[in-house]
Amino acid sequence: MFAYRGFMLDSVRHMQSIEEIKKLIDAISLLGFNKFHWHLTDDQGWRFESERFPVLNSVAAVRPYSDFGKTRDNNPYGRVYTKAEMREIVAYCAERGIDVIPEIDMPGHTSALLSAFPSLSCTGEAVKIKTHQGIFKDVLCLAKEETFEFITAIIDEFLGIFPGEYFHIGGDEAPSEHWKNCPDCQRYMKEHGIESYAEYQNSFMNRIIDYLESKNRHCIVWNEAAKGRNLDKRAIVQYWKENPKPTVKFLNEGGKAILSPFSYCYMDYDYNITPLNRVYSLKAELTGLTEEGKKNIIGLEGTVWTEYITENRQLEKLLFPRIIAVSKIALGENNKPYKDFVADVRDIRKQLNGIAFCDEKSWTKPRISTVYGWLKFVKDHYSIEYIKEQLF
Ligand code: ACM
Ligand code: ZN
Repeated sequence: MFAYRGFMLDSVRHMQSIEEIKKLIDAISLLGFNKFHWHLTDDQGWRFESERFPVLNSVAAVRPYSDFGKTRDNNPYGRVYTKAEMREIVAYCAERGIDVIPEIDMPGHTSALLSAFPSLSCTGEAVKIKTHQGIFKDVLCLAKEETFEFITAIIDEFLGIFPGEYFHIGGDEAPSEHWKNCPDCQRYMKEHGIESYAEYQNSFMNRIIDYLESKNRHCIVWNEAAKGRNLDKRAIVQYWKENPKPTVKFLNEGGKAILSPFSYCYMDYDYNITPLNRVYSLKAELTGLTEEGKKNIIGLEGTVWTEYITENRQLEKLLFPRIIAVSKIALGENNKPYKDFVADVRDIRKQLNGIAFCDEKSWTKPRISTVYGWLKFVKDHYSIEYIKEQLF
């Protein structure tokens, strides 16, 4: 059984009501999860109410419209969760033995933040909050002391709401284009003898890790951060995709990690792509680990990203029953043959009365369905114009 049994919810791309989040918390607590990772900031919105920086609540929280591929909505979207609402979630989780892990994604996925504070970017020019999915080149300028001061100040505000041991500081998908062209970033790299952008990113992440450690909090970072060899060993790497070697090296050298390989643990994909049988087949390990390295995997996390998820029923059907398979693996209760597991799922479903489940006929698929699933995914979510725009 893993000590860390996590569930991540993206409340940025689409939000959920406090009632819906509580309903999900009830369900995951029954399944044995003990960590709720709450993704609260991203390119398409900022969801944490700030007293110190109210412009986050107005500018950074609201995008002018939503254009996630084929699902377009012309209305302005988004607000922050109030401090009272977030405290309510923290208390609700605590009563059920679940710690809340807030995430401030940095230094990439920061367009919403930069739309309110353009001075934290390399160019200082206006940045637009994003209305569609993707990886964007608007990132924090890591050489400006103002960036460190702002981030630590907002972290202090988060710490007033979230008392848990862990804090997620992102670290994924941060393009280096602006850093390459920024005199401040270039000077900083030269002065500190930093040769790669992965290490440059970590020079900043390490300062944040150090800051949070001084407050007795441990930082979780997405696995891109492990690419820079200088990542502070006190961080916990969340492995989600690409070459596992940097994460394996980090583990073998004494760092810790949690696993969320996306093709098993990301619950926003269609059942054709990631059927229940595939999730249940996950081996929570990475190749190349020493005996010591194996012990450093402390957990497993199922995630749900909400670019395409606008309704509670749709969200629940994507999660259930697949999140049950994640819980069984995290608990080390995945030794039963798949058909016996499915029988258990039917029983658990009865206890999760009120939760919408995916229709049983879609739970189990042959491997080949993944190919069809990906084609359908592209067809459902992307217009020809959008694909052309991305490719050319
Ligand atoms: C991620 O899915 N970008 C961590
Ligand atoms: Zn810069």
